[in-house]
Amino acid sequence: MKVVLIGSNGQLGTDLVRTVPEKVTLFPLTRRDIDVTDRKKVEEVLGEIKPDLVINTSAYVKVDLAEEEVEEAFRVNASGVGNLVSACLKTGASLVHISTDYVFDGGKLGGKEPYYEDDVPNPINIYGVSKLAGEYIVRNYLEKYYIVRSSSLYGIAGASGKGGNFPYTILRKAKAGEKLRVVDDIYMVPTHTYDLAQGIWKLILEGYPYGIYHITHTGYCSWYEFAKKILELAGIKVDIEPVKHTEFPTKARRPLWSVLGTKKGVKLCPWEEGLERFIRMVKEGGYI
Ligand SMILES: NC(=O)c1ccc[n+]([C@@H]2O[C@H](COP(=O)([O-])OP(=O)(O)OC[C@H]3O[C@@H](n4cnc5c(N)ncnc54)[C@H](OP(=O)(O)O)[C@@H]3O)[C@@H](O)[C@H]2O)c1
Repeated sequence: MKVVLIGSNGQLGTDLVRTVPEKVTLFPLTRRDIDVTDRKKVEEVLGEIKPDLVINTSAYVKVDLAEEEVEEAFRVNASGVGNLVSACLKTGASLVHISTDYVFDGGKLGGKEPYYEDDVPNPINIYGVSKLAGEYIVRNYLEKYYIVRSSSLYGIAGASGKGGNFPYTILRKAKAGEKLRVVDDIYMVPTHTYDLAQGIWKLILEGYPYGIYHITHTGYCSWYEFAKKILELAGIKVDIEPVKHTEFPTKARRPLWSVLGTKKGVKLCPWEEGLERFIRMVKEGGYI
């Protein structure tokens, strides 16, 4: 199977490359090879390779900046997706498009029930709206697609669009001896991109029916609980204080509960196990 991977040097992209199954011939492309906002280039590159499948991990991911750079967010997350969809229609390729828990508003907080694939999205920030627009373009123009929503990603490569990730920030601050104050009233499922990548390959190769899938680890936690576990697994002792999200005002509103669950898809291990694997990899890489 010939697969084109867009955003191959990103956090998730890097782990999709590292976990590529034997039966896949992978064409890993970075923004320099293919800028999704350039329709002509997208059609030219995909027309040449003629893949069976395209995986789109590319995105504008700066959640706060998106509130100001609305056009740029939509250029990548909506129009860019439209360009890929158009090229898929021309070449007959199917599309795996990565989306986000931020398409939901967090209103399920009271019930503490995860958001499932058939829940109605209602994004509360520009990033979420632009990602949902991308989802609708995929759903409404293609028949052969997987939309994979995941949440709070971290991986060895760090998010290129965000300049790192949450575990790296916690480890850096802890190593510098900074006292940590972390939000304890926003809940999500932290997801290791190495495990997510394997889940995506499974979805593709085991012939799951096309449609929308949530792929995250199981369980959930607050950012404070996540930070505490990072420090515990890394064996670092530092003061850490739980605080309310209102103490860290941000430009973009964030859902207070964006826990995803699946009724039909690939299930990953508990989030603590994914994190343990990450910390082990980080230690092996000599970072801590
Ligand atoms: N990070 C999270 O917490 C999170 C949570 C839920 C869902 N997601 C979704 O998961 C996916 C992967 O996220 P990630 O954490 O791996 O982000 P990332 O590390 O920032 O990777 C994004 C990739 O997209 C590329 N890219 C950006 N604009 C592009 C363009 N115009 N044309 C082609 N490539 C472009 C980036 O290239 P450059 O390096 O050149 O910028 C990078 O390789 C995204 O769809 C994101 O919306 C992320």
